[in-house]
Amino acid sequence: MQITAANVDPALLDLPWELPLAQWPTEVLAALPRGISRHVVRFVNLSNRVIAVKEIGESVAYREYQLLRDLKRLGAPCVEPTAVITGRTNSQNEELNCALVTEHLKFSLPYRALFAQYMRPETATRLIDSLAVLLVRLHLIGFYWGDVSLSNTLFRRDAGAFAAYLVDAETGELHPKLTDGQRNYDVDLARTNIIGELMDLQAGSYMPEDVDVVEIGNRIQERYEALWSELTAEESFSYDERWRVTERIKRLNELGFDVGELSMATDLDGTVMRIQPKVVDAGHYHRQIMRLTGLDVEEAQAQRMLNDLETYRWWKGRQEEPIELVAHAWLAEVFEPVIAQIPPKLRRKLEPAQIFHEVLEHRWFIAEQKGHDIPLEEATNSYIKNILEHRPDEAAFLDPVEDEEMFNGYAAWDEDDDDEVFEPSMIRTNHTPQSAGDSPAF
Ligand SMILES: Nc1ncnc2c1ncn2[C@@H]1O[C@H](COP(=O)(O)OP(=O)(O)OP(=O)(O)O)[C@@H](O)[C@H]1O
Ligand SMILES: [Mg+2]
Repeated sequence: MQITAANVDPALLDLPWELPLAQWPTEVLAALPRGISRHVVRFVNLSNRVIAVKEIGESVAYREYQLLRDLKRLGAPCVEPTAVITGRTNSQNEELNCALVTEHLKFSLPYRALFAQYMRPETATRLIDSLAVLLVRLHLIGFYWGDVSLSNTLFRRDAGAFAAYLVDAETGELHPKLTDGQRNYDVDLARTNIIGELMDLQAGSYMPEDVDVVEIGNRIQERYEALWSELTAEESFSYDERWRVTERIKRLNELGFDVGELSMATDLDGTVMRIQPKVVDAGHYHRQIMRLTGLDVEEAQAQRMLNDLETYRWWKGRQEEPIELVAHAWLAEVFEPVIAQIPPKLRRKLEPAQIFHEVLEHRWFIAEQKGHDIPLEEATNSYIKNILEHRPDEAAFLDPVEDEEMFNGYAAWDEDDDDEVFEPSMIRTNHTPQSAGDSPAF
């Protein structure tokens, strides 16, 4: 018997490999929900963790093991491969199938287990949304799945949302870049498979009969396409439309993505530029801002700052410079001047990071209303006059009466320009979207 693995846990050798997987004694098995599959799959307790063992042909086992390793390396959400076991024989020296071992994905549920509980129709659509995110992420790194379905996906609850993971990579292929044809094929197959799988659930009375499964199936295509174009489309901006960049970043954040880098291309007369967002791993803003600026801020504030830092870098044409250098300049030229502009008597109202965050939100709001950028200094002044002055001190924040006053303070806000319409609900100062890492948008 041979084991191929990056690290071999000796306990792996003690498992009853001489028995067909279907006959493994219950003592070694872990009773966790498992999806339907062609191959025999079992969960096994192994040195304080759980592994998934799948019996499968040799070449397929190696292929899937390698693909999963590549996907992991590329940061894709998928199960983690542990080992391939080959050369298995039983007591009569007859050959047994090979085994692919993966780490059991903690807290994950196959879709049937999810549906077996009572499920509201919105939950079904959120499952589909998370699958669309997964598919886009895989396609962006050049992975053609070839067998997209609910049963080849695992779902994890993530702060009220779902995150989807690839579990079955058997039919997949990695390419430098996918063609539209390959992408469309995957999306089309996802759609057909999902409709079929949901019809199955309806037939088994796991899902109410009046749910329109075709509509749910179509949703994967819609969500996929919206995300894909938001992430890959090129947009042109003129110089006084920097707020549009902010808007685009916001839209991406709302779809559960983050912006890693903005690239700039200037056209012939030098006034138009394009951005192409990239996807980065979410959830590391706090540490990143701490590393770059020394500021110890909340996750959502850090996300906002990094967005602004990226926009600043792009705006100044400093993409080639190390981010640490640019962050230093950004701190001195953007962050600190805003804080310095706040009159000392108002400074105790909020933390500096929150004030900065609200100033950016305010600037974006005014720019969107006016249809062009406004200087940060002007936005800061307007923020002080129209918002900060009306805020209660943070210490009084928990008092409901004061809270209402604060809201009235917002509502009293009025800009000089007549054409501006103000709606309190549009200011989201205290309700900033969480990072995708904390809570994906779906
Ligand atoms: N690492 C893992 N963590 C959690 N569950 C897993 C893991 N590996 C497999 N499973 C469960 O086992 C099921 C079957 O796995 P998989 O889809 O790889 O088998 P398959 O036989 O190749 O499927 P298919 O019939 O699509 O070919 C999955 O739906 C999932 O529920
Ligand atoms: Mg499968």
